[in-house]
Amino acid sequence: MEKRKQIYEGKAKKVYETDNKDFLIQEFKDDATAFDATKRGTIIGKGVVNNKVSAELFELLESKGVETHFVKLLSDRDMLIKRLDIFLIEVTIRNIVAGGMAKLLGLEEGIVLKEPVLEYHYKKDKLHDPLINEYHIKALGLATDDELRIARERSFEINNILKDFFKKRSIDLVDFKLEFGRHKDKVLLGDEISPDTCRLWEHGTKKKLDKDRFRRDLGGIEEAYQEILKRVVG
Ligand code: TMP
Repeated sequence: MEKRKQIYEGKAKKVYETDNKDFLIQEFKDDATAFDATKRGTIIGKGVVNNKVSAELFELLESKGVETHFVKLLSDRDMLIKRLDIFLIEVTIRNIVAGGMAKLLGLEEGIVLKEPVLEYHYKKDKLHDPLINEYHIKALGLATDDELRIARERSFEINNILKDFFKKRSIDLVDFKLEFGRHKDKVLLGDEISPDTCRLWEHGTKKKLDKDRFRRDLGGIEEAYQEILKRVVG
């Protein structure tokens, strides 16, 4: 399938229509932003890494019965996806304290949580994607009860699958962000799963192999993304 009209350009991806209204193509860019795009840069090769890593992880999830928008890889930077009516919610799962949770609750990064924490954030850049709960989601009509239940249950399932997958590759899955949407009355996982949307620490050394290297100016960013590609895709 070929790209037709570009219908969206985000911070890290472009989305195109195809000749079939039910399918889109998402193209992964090397552009990186942080802190609501107040910090901008380029991570050479990031788009290729995120496309291939996302494809591998979506295929893994599909093989375990978790439905996603992924159809197939088209090229180094492009994947064919099902068109979703995306919920204005980000679902974050945390296994280890870091980032937003460390800041919100005044905790040390690295504390292993007794059980996974699920957070919802309202997709609203101007307000820095504020933390919300299920009552906000229902009251604002961001998703129905059923949709929210499915997204929540799938998120924990995804956590178990990904935690296990990364463990086998000597990586601790610290936290990650997911987006879900509707496609023909089904709730599917959308967006991407990549070092942009996960925190991945090398087991033992706790070396950061994700976008925190960019957010915090730690250097070795390209190398970290390539390392993840190597461990995920082999
Ligand atoms: P946080 O600790 O900053 O809330 O981030 C939690 C996880 O979500 C982390 O793995 C990075 C990911 N994330 C995104 O994918 N997009 C975002 O805009 C933010 C803030 C975090």
